[in-house]
Amino acid sequence: MKVLVTDPIDDAGLDQLREAGYEVETNYEADGEELLAAVADANALIVRSGTDVNEAVFEAAEDLVIVGRAGIGVDNIDIEAATDHGVIVANAPEGNVRAAAEHTVAMAFAGARWIPQAHTRLKDGEWAKSDYLGYEVNNKTLGIIGLGRVGQEVAKRLDSLGMDLVVFDPYISEERAAQFGAELIDDLDECLAASDFVTIHTPLLPETENMIGSEELELLDDGFLINCARGGIVDEAALAEAVDNGPMAGAALDVFAEEPLADDSPLLDVDEIVVTPHLGASTEAAQENVAVDTADQVIAALNDQP
Ligand code: NAD
Ligand code: MLT
Repeated sequence: MKVLVTDPIDDAGLDQLREAGYEVETNYEADGEELLAAVADANALIVRSGTDVNEAVFEAAEDLVIVGRAGIGVDNIDIEAATDHGVIVANAPEGNVRAAAEHTVAMAFAGARWIPQAHTRLKDGEWAKSDYLGYEVNNKTLGIIGLGRVGQEVAKRLDSLGMDLVVFDPYISEERAAQFGAELIDDLDECLAASDFVTIHTPLLPETENMIGSEELELLDDGFLINCARGGIVDEAALAEAVDNGPMAGAALDVFAEEPLADDSPLLDVDEIVVTPHLGASTEAAQENVAVDTADQVIAALNDQP
């Protein structure tokens, strides 16, 4: 049986599949017709966020049993088409949660203490000490949009750094929020208005697409927005405008509506917006975890196990 892998995953997962007797084909450049040809005789397909697993892929892949997502978000996989074709979609929901939470905390500090901006100028030979006055997180309010696995880990870390926590998440109880020292607020606008820093941790769903637009950003007076969840949840043009000419102090983004981020994105023109190229899960430990978890699921599915 053939397992096609179209986004890079850790060798630990590839070795596990080979040891289980599968032919493992890696093709990280496959796109369009090449992807359709490569998947035609595949029994399993493994991806991260870089492969668009759409209806055409399921049409082409007659022997496909499972799509394994070596990570959390499955928004690059057409779940309805998978269901229509009887193909399992399995993600790896745990292995990169701590990496994503740590990256979120790093982005909060990068944004609030101007670390990338000051670093760049010092490397260019400029001692710009008096240009950067930062913001402490201590005694500030953190608004968490989505208190799931990653949101909870972020809550624990930033609570320990002296932040007050408020949460907007329509699917959790007050008691659940309280377990993380957070107050649940049942209105998004109220949660944004109460926050100095806002961090987003929801999936990208029809319900969350463009959830944060110019009206919501207006509520973040002198505040910071961090998005290490998914592009498309925040309106990028509105964010660039709100930081550049509006009330916001800054933003830090790891994810974008279109990836790779286009050279002409307005986000790149605003100095107070810190960007990283979707690095939230890019730690050695996280990549090994998700590769192994995904290989386990693929092997189980190809053996008709649950
Ligand atoms: P999760 O499913 O455990 O949690 C998501 C939370 O969002 C849930 O508590 C859910 O109730 C809540 N939610 C759903 N709809 C909502 C809405 N309309 N408003 C507010 N809350 C809502 O997911 P997770 O594992 O915590 O992952 C969170 C996000 O982080 C996902 O988008 C995932 O793809 C992304 N992620 C990114 C990276 C990265 O590399 N940057 C790494 C890991 C995860
Ligand atoms: C995820 O949803 O797990 C992230 O996108 C991590 C990744 O695979 O890059």
